[in-house]
Amino acid sequence: MKVLVIGSGGREHAIVDALTRSPQAEKIYCAPGNAGIARQAECVPIRETEVERLRDFAAAEGIGLTVVGPEVALAAGIVDVFKAAGLRIFGPTKAAARIESSKEFAKELMARHGIPTAGFRSFTEYEAARAYVAGRPFPAVLKYDGLAAGKGVVIAQTLEEADAALRDMLLDDRFGAGKVVVEDYLEGPEFSFMCFVSGRRVWPMALAQDHKRAYDGDRGPNTGGMGAYSPLPFITAEDEKYALEHILQPVADAMADEGCPFEGVLYGGLMKTAQGIRVIEFNARFGDPETEVVLPRLRSDIVDIFCAVAEGRDARLEWHDFATLGIVLASKGYPGAYEKGYEIKGLDRVGGTVYHMGTRADGDRVLTAGGRVLFVVGQGATLAEAREKALADVARIECDGLFHRTDIGHRALDETEK
Ligand code: AMP
Ligand code: GLY
Repeated sequence: MKVLVIGSGGREHAIVDALTRSPQAEKIYCAPGNAGIARQAECVPIRETEVERLRDFAAAEGIGLTVVGPEVALAAGIVDVFKAAGLRIFGPTKAAARIESSKEFAKELMARHGIPTAGFRSFTEYEAARAYVAGRPFPAVLKYDGLAAGKGVVIAQTLEEADAALRDMLLDDRFGAGKVVVEDYLEGPEFSFMCFVSGRRVWPMALAQDHKRAYDGDRGPNTGGMGAYSPLPFITAEDEKYALEHILQPVADAMADEGCPFEGVLYGGLMKTAQGIRVIEFNARFGDPETEVVLPRLRSDIVDIFCAVAEGRDARLEWHDFATLGIVLASKGYPGAYEKGYEIKGLDRVGGTVYHMGTRADGDRVLTAGGRVLFVVGQGATLAEAREKALADVARIECDGLFHRTDIGHRALDETEK
């Protein structure tokens, strides 16, 4: 079968890499791809949001399966357009993808179905939002109600900070016109629970934890994610069972009951609070960078799973026992302004896996081309060994324009090292 992957980041590189392990994927394409993906797939110069061009390409090339990476393609309706043309595609429709693209849709669905999450109210008016926040305890959690590349959430410690964020989102329309959801502040370790979902069928993946803050010690601004690892020693089998039975399965059922059944990856961003497990957010796709540490642990043939989801059949997921830990190399300045075009050297000296997140080929050279640039994955019998390997590989990569966190996995490793 010919398979097309949509997207250009580390997540898509990990999906392409998993596809190369399937005997069923006879030829792999990626649109638009990047310099690393180009070594494992044929890159097609069509952007993620050009959904009609992608459909025409898939039809003309006889693509048997298309797998969608990024939320922008889902929000652009790529699944609806492919399905209307009779093409097999892995991902939710635009209506089902609202579980991610609209915070308000997700919060209201959870409220209707008793799914545990932080209390919330949504606002369109700056004055009303400010008055509400001023009368509540801090920190205040403010979320822009739409896609904002992981940058639409502000945890404000003071009224001044909250005011600045509300002005930004509601008066200056920084992410576009829209609402703001104000949520109760929750505390506890966060984890990512991704499931393959096909209507009411839900197959859990191995758990992972992302690190959203830019700098060591979980300091600095929120980013798209600076590192990840799997498995998670601090989430018990009971926690996982609870999350599956009280969160992921009921959400899949709720979407089916409400006329927009979900197909694809449903990603629960969950928090283990003192009061129990709560939903922080849902995504309608594979997480990035979680996918880069979870898919290497998948033993099953990923083409079988993608096809089972798309066709509403049963599938079984099997996992490797080893641990994975990955570190993002990001452009200095990210998630703020940064420069691109720095040459990356030493990639051939790396022993483990490197997924490209934002790179560009220039002849034989590889250049930085995004905020998050590379994802270096270590694999080991334990998380400690996986981290050692990842850090050793990071040290082999030379590039002036990059920085990284050195404490990925600290929540799991600091505990076991004690
Ligand atoms: P989100 O994009 O909704 O996942 O939010 C980004 C990050 O903000 C999360 O990973 C959390 O660290 C933090 N966050 C979001 N909602 C809350 C909340 N209700 N309480 C505490 N922290 C939160
Ligand atoms: N790693 C968080 C996300 O994919 O949204």
